[in-house]
Amino acid sequence: MPQKTFAKVIAIDGPSGSGKSTIAKELARALNVLYIDTGAMFRALAYIANSEKIELTEGAALNNFLSSIKLEYGISDSILIRINNLDLSDKIREHHVSKLASIISQLPSVRKYLLDFQRSLALDKVCVMEGRDIGTVVFPDSFSKFFITASVDIRAERRLKQLRENGDDKITLNQIAEDVRKRDETDMNRAFAPLKKAEDAMLLDTSALAMKDIINILSSEVKFRAAHLGFNL
Ligand code: DC
Repeated sequence: MPQKTFAKVIAIDGPSGSGKSTIAKELARALNVLYIDTGAMFRALAYIANSEKIELTEGAALNNFLSSIKLEYGISDSILIRINNLDLSDKIREHHVSKLASIISQLPSVRKYLLDFQRSLALDKVCVMEGRDIGTVVFPDSFSKFFITASVDIRAERRLKQLRENGDDKITLNQIAEDVRKRDETDMNRAFAPLKKAEDAMLLDTSALAMKDIINILSSEVKFRAAHLGFNL
C-alpha cells in the first residue's frame, strides 16, 4: 500500500480569543520555524478592497480586484504583509478592519484566492499556520493539527482586558460575551470553510492552562510526530 504523505505544516485553528495567535507565534519560535498568520491576509484584502471602494460581495469588481493585486507575506521582520507594495502590517490591526475581514472571509472567491496563496507559501517548508480552516481545508494532510479553544467567559474577559487597555471603558463583560457567542455562531455556520475541529486535530482548552505549559505540550507532540514520520525540526 502506498504510504500516506503529509504536509509539513503545523495547523492551529480555533475561535478568536482562544489564545491561538499567541500560542502559534510562541510555538513557531520554540521550534524555530516560520509562522504564518492567515487572518492577517483576510484583514489585508479587506482593508485594501474597502479603501478602493470595492463592494464586499461576489461579482466582477471583486474578481478584477483579486486578479490585479500583488499580495506579499513575511517580507522582513518588520513587514508582515503588503499589497501592491503598501505595507499594511499595522493598518490591519485597526478595530474596524476586524468587521470587514469577517465579511470578506465569507466570500468563496476570496477564500479560493487565499487558499492558493497559503498553499504556495508553505510549499515543502515546516511552518506553523494559524487560522480557522487550516486543518480542515487548506492543509487537511498536515502532520500535526491543533484546535485551540477556551470558554466563552474566559474569551470575553481576555477581550475586555484588551479593550480597556485600548481606552474603551464603556462596553460591559456581558455585551462582549454576547458578541463572542454571536461570532462563534456565524463562524461555525458559514457555508464555506466553517470553523470546526478537524477530526484528527488535538483539542486543547486553554481556559485553565498557563502559556508555558501549553507550549510544552504542543512542542512535545509536534516533535514526537515529526520523529515518527522521519523528518527533523
Ligand atoms: O484571526 P483574525 O481575527 O485575524 O481573522 C480575521 C478574520 O478572518 C476573522 O473574521 C476570521 C477570518 N479568517 C478566516 O475566515 N479563515 C482563516 N483561515 C483566518 C481568518
